[in-house]
Amino acid sequence: MDRHHDVVAVGAEERCHEGRHTLTVTLDRVGDHGELGGGAGRVFASGIRHARQGRADELVPSPRHAVSTLTPVIPVRDDLRALEGYHSPQLEVKVRLNTNESPLPPPAAWRDAFAAEMSRVEWHRYPDRHATELREAIAALHGVAPEMVFAANGSNEVLQTILLTYGGPGRTVATFEPTYQMHAQIARVVGSQVVEGERDADFTLSSGELRRVLETAAPHVVFITSPNNPTGLVEPADRVRELLSVAPGLVVVDEAYAQFADWSALDLVDESRPLVVTRTFSKTWSMAAVRLGYVIGPTWFVRALDTVVLPYHLDAAKQIAGRLALRFADEMNDRVRLIVAERERISAAMRTMAIDVTPSGANFVLFRPTGMAGRDVWQALVDRSVLVRDCSGWPRLAECLRVTVGTPEENDVFLAALDEIVSGSVVQ
Ligand SMILES: Cc1ncc(COP(=O)(O)O)c(C=O)c1O
Repeated sequence: MDRHHDVVAVGAEERCHEGRHTLTVTLDRVGDHGELGGGAGRVFASGIRHARQGRADELVPSPRHAVSTLTPVIPVRDDLRALEGYHSPQLEVKVRLNTNESPLPPPAAWRDAFAAEMSRVEWHRYPDRHATELREAIAALHGVAPEMVFAANGSNEVLQTILLTYGGPGRTVATFEPTYQMHAQIARVVGSQVVEGERDADFTLSSGELRRVLETAAPHVVFITSPNNPTGLVEPADRVRELLSVAPGLVVVDEAYAQFADWSALDLVDESRPLVVTRTFSKTWSMAAVRLGYVIGPTWFVRALDTVVLPYHLDAAKQIAGRLALRFADEMNDRVRLIVAERERISAAMRTMAIDVTPSGANFVLFRPTGMAGRDVWQALVDRSVLVRDCSGWPRLAECLRVTVGTPEENDVFLAALDEIVSGSVVQ
């Protein structure tokens, strides 16, 4: 429906062929003065088709199994039309190293404790709207006040809530590319203008570029990801301090992978600075399936987010899962040590091959084959039942692939396959 015309149903026909149920609804558009014929034939995404003839007095409900491949009748917002969405294709393979999850499940004792608490949930009641115990547990982990913690459904929802609160129409959001695509994506979805700063060819961020973007765009929100995804590079502490000193608005440090790195911006968070740090349970805490993330920030910031987020957005299961996970910090730290050791092992092994390796502080490694096209290496790995992330077609990442650190056994399979693929590619 556009601004000037309402869409009405003027006829309907139902058919069933070989078990496939379709409904054709004749639609037309009513002009400003009530006349029919206001627009061209288009289609509801639910499968209702426009035929532009006949007449009916009432709308027919959409059939359950009808699927349309035609153009939707209702266009999306003009500024969203060019959006592609975030894709992370999956394939059936033996070794899956493409989505930066933990290769290991949470400890068995966590599963038992979680199951026991789940059996005591009062399912007919809404959960604790403020996730009080979860916030307290996260606050204790980081040595901050519970009023400095906001949790949501994955750090993606945390990022979305931040941008709903501080981004939006008339506001500018800055990123330094290449980086995590969801920062710019969510910023655009909520109607902000996005300004993309550029990293150098080695993916580091120069002081000059940082200052240029902040001085020319004066962003309301600026994102920095440390360690960065997809490069794995840790942002030096001095660069983050510099960013904080010149940023006119909110500085968001996305630390989804910070436990694998050697420093965190968490120590810089306090009441007087517009700095916030996001974290997730999806990586270190082996709980990608739970969808839980959080942000640590000043109390005035957390209060603002609490006002904007939907009521009862965090379900009871998530609150329990997260709170119990934090009791297993020792086990999680053991996992982090293993992954960091494996990351160093695969990085060193890849450096002996015809491959450029970006130094990583995360649980993945970005690499670029030097003697073969990135896409061909990716396909050859898939042919050997190993899936890594193909970034070779992404802007600024020509020929690059990204491998998530797996178990030692998975990493061995990956390294052997990669060696076999690229060893024939070295120019003698
Ligand atoms: C940098 C970064 N931030 C945030 C996220 C989202 O994490 P979550 O699973 O908590 O939504 C990811 C996921 O890959 C990420 O790479």
